Amino acid sequence: MNMSGHTVLIVGGTSGIGRGLAQRFLDAGSTVVVGGRNTAAVEEVETVPIDVTDAESVLRARDEVLAKHPDLDVLVTMSGVMLMEDLRDPAHFANAETTIAVNLLGTIRVIDAFTPHLIGLGRGQIITVSSGIGFMPFPLMPTYGASKAGVHAYTEALRAQLAGTGVQVTELVPPAVATAGQEKINPAALPLDGFLDEVVGLLSTDANEIVVERALPLRWAERDGTYAELLERRSQALNTLPGR
Ligand SMILES: NC(=O)c1ccc[n+]([C@@H]2O[C@H](COP(=O)([O-])OP(=O)(O)OC[C@H]3O[C@@H](n4cnc5c(N)ncnc54)[C@H](OP(=O)(O)O)[C@@H]3O)[C@@H](O)[C@H]2O)c1
Repeated sequence: MNMSGHTVLIVGGTSGIGRGLAQRFLDAGSTVVVGGRNTAAVEEVETVPIDVTDAESVLRARDEVLAKHPDLDVLVTMSGVMLMEDLRDPAHFANAETTIAVNLLGTIRVIDAFTPHLIGLGRGQIITVSSGIGFMPFPLMPTYGASKAGVHAYTEALRAQLAGTGVQVTELVPPAVATAGQEKINPAALPLDGFLDEVVGLLSTDANEIVVERALPLRWAERDGTYAELLERRSQALNTLPGR
């Protein structure tokens, strides 16, 4: 895709990767609205309040955005939480519920809200956001990985179901990026700007999946025969859980 001349809604664009991607679309000359619960934190971009776990909130946001921007043609479902869980403690279930509610059901709910509009438009693009962890688990975040594997499978089915409507479906598969506190705990996380440079380049190729170089070993570990070794290495992070 060419990033100019679009009208873009990034749900989950109030911080981090979403806010950065919003800036790239703005810089390229697109009109951009970012959504999230914490819209007060955002300056210089049009915002819409939206909580993806609340059906009414999503429909209200949809109506508000489409009333103002009937030409909206790009939807990005970026909202996500990354929560750690100790599966030996059943209290982890609260985090599991939140993770599925935001990352998976939230994604589905937002897509449902805008799909009729995009089909009516007869063109446009839905960009979902999974994660390298959806393909190569990080055992400290079990439900997170499950939710992102779910986003991947859902995206594939959505692309098949929207074939012929003019609406393209693209999956962004980030590796660890230095946002959401990762910059403090993960020195290997990619700086946001470098990540976005690669993403913008890959978006122009119209590939179904946007997989930056750092995400390739995670995306293709199973095919490349490196899965067991990588999983073992990533399991060492479990030592950081209290009591292990
Ligand atoms: N950073 C990484 O290493 C990494 C790696 C792979 C995938 N990802 C994925 O990339 C996406 C963005 O992550 P990030 O690193 O940029 O984290 P972030 O800065 O924490 O951004 C998360 C976004 O999700 C929104 N959000 C959370 N709960 C929401 C809710 N209930 N309703 C609506 N919006 C909600 C937040 O907005 P409000 O707080 O304003 O609601 C925020 O805009 C996520 O889907 C994440 O899983 C990140």
